[in-house]
Amino acid sequence: MADSALWYKNDIFYELYVRAFRDSNGDGWGDLKGVTEKLDYVRYLGVDTIWLLPISPSPLRDDGYDVSDYCNIHPMYGNMQDFRELVKEAHQRSLKILVELVPNHTSDQHPWFQASRDPNHPEHEKYKDFYVWSDTDKKYQDARIIFVDSEKSNWSFDPVRKQYFWHRFFHHQPDLNYDNPAVQEAMLQTVKFWIDQGADGIRVDAPPYLFEREGTNCENLPETHQFLKRLRAFVDAYKPEVLLLSEANQWPEDVIHYFGSGDEMHMNFHFPLMPRLYMALAKGDRTPIEEILARTPQLPANCQWGTFLRCHDELTLEMVTPEERQWMWEVYAPEPRMRLNMGIRRRLAPLMGNDKRKILLMYSLLLTMGGSPFLYYGDEIGMGDNIWLEDRNGVRTPMQWDSSTSGGFSEAPAEKFYAPIIDSPEYGCARVNAADQMADPDSLLNRIRHLIAVRKQHALFGWGDFSWRDFSYSPKLVASYQRKFEGQRVVVLNNLTDREVHGWIPETAVAFENLLTGETVLPGDYHLPPYGFVWLKPIGPDLPDRPLGPNAPRPQYLGSDKQ
Ligand code: NOJ
Repeated sequence: MADSALWYKNDIFYELYVRAFRDSNGDGWGDLKGVTEKLDYVRYLGVDTIWLLPISPSPLRDDGYDVSDYCNIHPMYGNMQDFRELVKEAHQRSLKILVELVPNHTSDQHPWFQASRDPNHPEHEKYKDFYVWSDTDKKYQDARIIFVDSEKSNWSFDPVRKQYFWHRFFHHQPDLNYDNPAVQEAMLQTVKFWIDQGADGIRVDAPPYLFEREGTNCENLPETHQFLKRLRAFVDAYKPEVLLLSEANQWPEDVIHYFGSGDEMHMNFHFPLMPRLYMALAKGDRTPIEEILARTPQLPANCQWGTFLRCHDELTLEMVTPEERQWMWEVYAPEPRMRLNMGIRRRLAPLMGNDKRKILLMYSLLLTMGGSPFLYYGDEIGMGDNIWLEDRNGVRTPMQWDSSTSGGFSEAPAEKFYAPIIDSPEYGCARVNAADQMADPDSLLNRIRHLIAVRKQHALFGWGDFSWRDFSYSPKLVASYQRKFEGQRVVVLNNLTDREVHGWIPETAVAFENLLTGETVLPGDYHLPPYGFVWLKPIGPDLPDRPLGPNAPRPQYLGSDKQ
């Protein structure tokens, strides 16, 4: 039986910006009350858990990942009472709430940093070692720079303390010093605080970089894992059902250590898989997915991958080879403004050329391949992006609720919106909005909603084993696989090409139910339309001696096999 204590193994997550979702008080900024207003929509979509991007006070130079007070709410988003109200209302609808913990760094406006940098500050003694200070900027030279488009060094000089401070991200985000036990303790207390406010889980931002050691690349160090295990032990002792989800953007062989032996993070995102879904689709060939899954170790039983198509950041290409990165940029980011750092700042629908068949195919892969899927707000209605906004802001624009010019996001005049709403003819509110799509059974929203509903009826999508199943004579063109759990199995076929593929279902079942249409499908000869997909559940017992392959009539293959 799927163990309900391990709820995250089968949940579907929905990631949103409070600022972007719904403005309840007409100031042009989304807020917590606005999210509460829209919980019924989230429920309608059918997801289980909302991941709130940072909500704590912050100068917002990194959209809240530059925290200036860990245990509070940014005043533009509301207050702690609003947060508790949101949690209460969410729980009443069986929705869970994840919040962010940004343990690696703070804003330079954080009082800890202000005290740390200034020898005359009354609390300098207490905080002087909260950050990583040095007389030279030559230490830790093997650590890469992450935000290559905006930073030249991981060190910045502070004129007040007259020393350099270490930062893996923006220069206004000093890294905390985890060699200082007081920093570790402060972070545990932050986690306790949010658990006390009712959070069901914590997304742990950028964990690979907590410690620095000379002669290493300062990522994934043993000391980092030791602290994360301490964090897990703390949560297990305090409230064991709370989820720890980590964002370690690393290769599978490095990321596996973030699960420990089931005693570190419950979940981690599978970063390397994500770009390979896009590669497979553009090539019409499943090989990139095969290769990365072959490199993906088995997880401890109580752990789970987080899978995603897009998120609030650029579509990162850190976990591909330089040649693959170049190829991805040429295919998916032909204009320079579409590129950012080591990635692509575009949303899903524009990446798919607004082709509904391709968007749905990507969701079919996301929802059936394994792991717990994360959807990014707005992608379920096919929202567009604005590559002319700075940094990653172009994929963080206001949610489009209805066809009015404000998109139903806010009652404020448009010039007060925290960011301009998308207004292109193709992706503006008149064409892309939740209200119209809720009313149309064939809309992208309702099609995705249907896929979600079907996935949720089958625990095997979250819990089951995965194995490739070749779709007859053109195996590479079709991402076809089986998911299996407790004697139940489902075979999924995804046509990655723009052509009809005619093949042979590799099966011993007597018949199948097409889970998406309810129709009965017989094994054997089968046509998949361009970018088409089916989820097939065997009906009745298998017949292992069923004639397959050579003894069966060979169907005519209509497409060109790339093999
Ligand atoms: C990872 C977050 O996803 C990203 O948005 C942020 O800029 C960096 N961490 C630095 O805080």
